[in-house]
Amino acid sequence: MNLTNRPRRLRQDRVRDLVSETTLEPTDLIAPVFVDATTDERIQIESMPGHERVPIDESVDRVEGVLETGVEAVMLFGIPSSKDSAGSRAWADDGVIQDAVRRITAETDAYVITDVCLCEYTEHGHCGPLEPGLADEKGGGTADHGSRESTLTVDNDATLESLEKIAVSHAEAGSDMIAPSGMMDGMVAAIRRGLDRAGFEHVPIMSYAAKYQSAFYGPFRDAADGAPEFGGRRHYQMDPANAREAMREVELDVDQGADVLMVKPALPYLDVVRDVSREFDHPVAAYNVSGEYAMLCAAADKGWLDLEEVALESLVSIKRAGADLILTYFAEDVGRSL
Ligand code: PBG
Repeated sequence: MNLTNRPRRLRQDRVRDLVSETTLEPTDLIAPVFVDATTDERIQIESMPGHERVPIDESVDRVEGVLETGVEAVMLFGIPSSKDSAGSRAWADDGVIQDAVRRITAETDAYVITDVCLCEYTEHGHCGPLEPGLADEKGGGTADHGSRESTLTVDNDATLESLEKIAVSHAEAGSDMIAPSGMMDGMVAAIRRGLDRAGFEHVPIMSYAAKYQSAFYGPFRDAADGAPEFGGRRHYQMDPANAREAMREVELDVDQGADVLMVKPALPYLDVVRDVSREFDHPVAAYNVSGEYAMLCAAADKGWLDLEEVALESLVSIKRAGADLILTYFAEDVGRSL
């Protein structure tokens, strides 16, 4: 045996950490928080064990719980008191997110990021107002929409106006960072222009730049009550088959002024996280989504996986692939254990 190279030398206990390539800190993590204007009580989210929708009155308490774990940033999602076809509660001054943000920023030091999208606010559950033809059809109660759905969906440019209003109303309430997630063309430019005109030049935008149409969002749609009533989101979210297209999406958002670039979901798309982090110098965020969380919880519940270990391994892997920050439902558990 003449083995010159023995990688095992560096796997011994006291040297392992010295040569570790990737570190995970609680300050790399963002905890998603669901605030619900329709309830006075906390409601368990069945498909996401350990997560709840909290009433506005308890939003500060909920965020304080996150801060205790060492995690300093939260991403807020809102369930509005009522929905309509335009999603107008999304930009209401007394809307669920606006109320929650005012309270959280007044009473805590959390860095508050707000998701900007319309799907929780529209009665049809799509990420913007429908194109006129489709809206008529839906309004008329036509059950069979058949092939029209493959061409007609969300009215992109009308949605941009709403997104601009939502972003400005969030910033006025005190949001520290705006995160548009609707995958509308031009959304970053519209929001940047709106924020700048309203005097919020200092508020950064974290764009859900490469967001795939993913079945891994299933549990979130229960959590945020934002499932589309008909059709899917395939006409605005990306096809899971495409990686080069992600680079094009990201580049467009960079040109429009995005400050942080997000890839979503995370684990099934680590190749995209890697490509984006190599190609662009902006910070890269990855969203370890609800389905990624739910499947590990379910397996752990059966005794098939050790939840703490798989959660940590998942997050380290996402960082290793090139993410600088991670949105994850494991934030508090992992924050605490670090
Ligand atoms: C809203 C939004 C979604 C998620 C984040 N923002 C749902 C969707 O696009 O259908 C998913 C998050 C998760 O699954 O954890 N557009």
